[in-house]
Amino acid sequence: MPEADQPQGELVIQTIAMPKDTNRDGDIFGGWLVSQMDLGSAILAGKVAKSRVVTVAIEGMSFLNPVRVGDTVACYAWVEKIGRTSMKICVDVWVTRYRTGERVKVTNGVFTYVALGPDGKPVPVKRD
Ligand SMILES: CC(C)(COP(=O)(O)OP(=O)(O)OC[C@H]1O[C@@H](n2cnc3c(N)ncnc32)[C@H](O)[C@@H]1OP(=O)(O)O)[C@@H](O)C(=O)NCCC(=O)NCCS
Repeated sequence: MPEADQPQGELVIQTIAMPKDTNRDGDIFGGWLVSQMDLGSAILAGKVAKSRVVTVAIEGMSFLNPVRVGDTVACYAWVEKIGRTSMKICVDVWVTRYRTGERVKVTNGVFTYVALGPDGKPVPVKRD
């Protein structure tokens, strides 16, 4: 994944890290961040597939910098690969630090989705 000093891809979700998202030491849970990435990349996968999608795999997760309470958390995603029924979506997470406004890349990962039909079975991703 190429390193960049600016976010790459499409802004798919943006939120604020709140006290309820912390562990007992006051740090933001990695699991909360993964959940934001899953939500955001599922939006992009659903848009591409124009169908219901489900997460089948998460790989290549790296937590590069901590997220703090009050930070604005933004997930940027792009399609890495479209298979027959699956889509590989890369996600980078950037935060804007509360009060200072500094922008920092905190996490990246690769999420794979499968397009499903109404019966819950994989269906081919229709290419435009
Ligand atoms: C997604 C699911 C329907 C796929 O069923 P399946 O019987 O494995 O279907 P297939 O073997 O036809 O695979 C479908 C596609 O997924 C890909 N795939 C399956 N397992 C994968 C894995 N672990 N990693 C990456 N891709 C995977 C296959 O390569 C295939 O891609 P392609 O069509 O582009 O070539 C099934 O695994 C499932 O329901 N998993 C649970 C998903 C879920 O509940 N996610 C939320 C967790 S809370």
